Amino acid sequence: MSGLTFAAARAERKTLLPRAPLVQTGANGMNIAIIGLGYVGLPLCLQFARSGVRVLGLDIDAKKVSALNAGRSYIQHIPAGEIKKLVRAGKFSASTDFAKIKSVEAVLICVPTPLKKNREPDLSFVLKTGKSIAPHLQRGQLVVLESTTYPGTTENELREVLEKGSGLKAGKDFHLAFSPEREDPGNPKSKVAEIPKVIGGFTPACLAAAKKVYSRAIRHLVPVANCRTAEAAKLLENVFRGVNIALVNELKGVYAAMDIDIWDVIAAAHTKPFGFMPFYPGPGLGGHCIPIDPFYLAWKARQVGQETRFVELAGEINRAMPERVVAQVAKALAAQKKKLRGARVLVLGLAYKANVADDRESPSYVLMNLLKTRGAEVFYFDPHVPIIRKTREHPHWAGTKSVKWNRQTISRFDAVLISTAHNAVNYQQLADWSPLIVDTRNALAKCNVAPGKVWKA
Ligand SMILES: NC(=O)c1ccc[n+]([C@@H]2O[C@H](COP(=O)([O-])OP(=O)(O)OC[C@H]3O[C@@H](n4cnc5c(N)ncnc54)[C@H](O)[C@@H]3O)[C@@H](O)[C@H]2O)c1
Repeated sequence: MSGLTFAAARAERKTLLPRAPLVQTGANGMNIAIIGLGYVGLPLCLQFARSGVRVLGLDIDAKKVSALNAGRSYIQHIPAGEIKKLVRAGKFSASTDFAKIKSVEAVLICVPTPLKKNREPDLSFVLKTGKSIAPHLQRGQLVVLESTTYPGTTENELREVLEKGSGLKAGKDFHLAFSPEREDPGNPKSKVAEIPKVIGGFTPACLAAAKKVYSRAIRHLVPVANCRTAEAAKLLENVFRGVNIALVNELKGVYAAMDIDIWDVIAAAHTKPFGFMPFYPGPGLGGHCIPIDPFYLAWKARQVGQETRFVELAGEINRAMPERVVAQVAKALAAQKKKLRGARVLVLGLAYKANVADDRESPSYVLMNLLKTRGAEVFYFDPHVPIIRKTREHPHWAGTKSVKWNRQTISRFDAVLISTAHNAVNYQQLADWSPLIVDTRNALAKCNVAPGKVWKA
């Protein structure tokens, strides 16, 4: 539950008069720290540094820190050249030393917000980060949480650890805000600076401080009433995607039973110039956001005695997709008088989305597990993931290597299951080489294919 009622929050804000900041913007301009140098934090560091702000990147992973200081990138779609340039220019450096927070104007937190085994929110990374910041927190500094989370986290859980560890008061001694990241990894058209940034402050003065910092690097700022509203907006965005993907996933089966192709239907509906937005079906949800964030909302809703039936139903439909896809693989093989048990099946695309190397929560792993359980011999091909790293959820695949892309290799599989359609794959070659393809992404739409060879799923 949120710690403040609206009336109490309004009354409290009026009484909060931020004192003059003790941390001054240095002669060389603004200094900020960004904690968590992953898919969200690193691009944000680079955008601020590009805009002339001096950025200190903090992470507990010493390997990432030394890679960045040496000008190397560990995220495939972020070029090392850009990191090197900004490090050399003295605009960006990385460290594991949280004491350096003392000298910055603002601290932005971009650490993971996963789920626990029981699928409840795991705030441990955020709280641990808050505890690491607190002893170094100075009067006048701004702390912003960017990690996706349920409404109330910033003004309750995070505020409490910051206040307890520093002896300072949010809204009075230091500024506190929430501003969700809207990173779209792998989309070359998506530029951090151009994506409008929603910001909610703990007090109006907190909001003003956050706007001052973000306006240095981001073109459009969207101030909202408070931290809770900003947290809720991020969840709405992701739940919206999850629910609409579930809708087309359900309609895929419904229309297929009527001999109608869902991809043709979406393309036709998409010609409507208003009131329609296309979402596309797939083999199930993946990534660090869409499969996880709805649980944050559902959990918080339960705390306040509310139900999230749309969210639950969408989750149910999306989670059922891999089973349905594997059933389609079995059906397609049966049409060629083959059994799934003993068949050699290649899963194409291991990353959770096209053109990235990020395999977190990828439905491809679920497909590979299901195929293996049904007795198939399972392989994968992914130009962005040459070898499977150790994951908590699927340790048994660690060390497995992507197969080679050539006619001899590809033609030897009984079926190829397209799970993620990277642009780097030559689909016409696949259509020419493979005897049977199950396509969950409509990747072969523009290819010449022999009749009966491609099954949509
Ligand atoms: N990846 C996306 O596309 C995306 C998009 C929007 C929002 N988000 C949200 O942004 C947040 C971060 O996601 P991400 O994808 O960047 O995660 P990530 O795993 O790529 O990066 C997180 C980084 O935080 C570091 N870290 C963990 N605990 C730490 C601690 N206590 N102190 C310092 N560093 C610590 C990790 O070492 C890692 O480098 C999550 O809340 C996520 O939901 C992600």
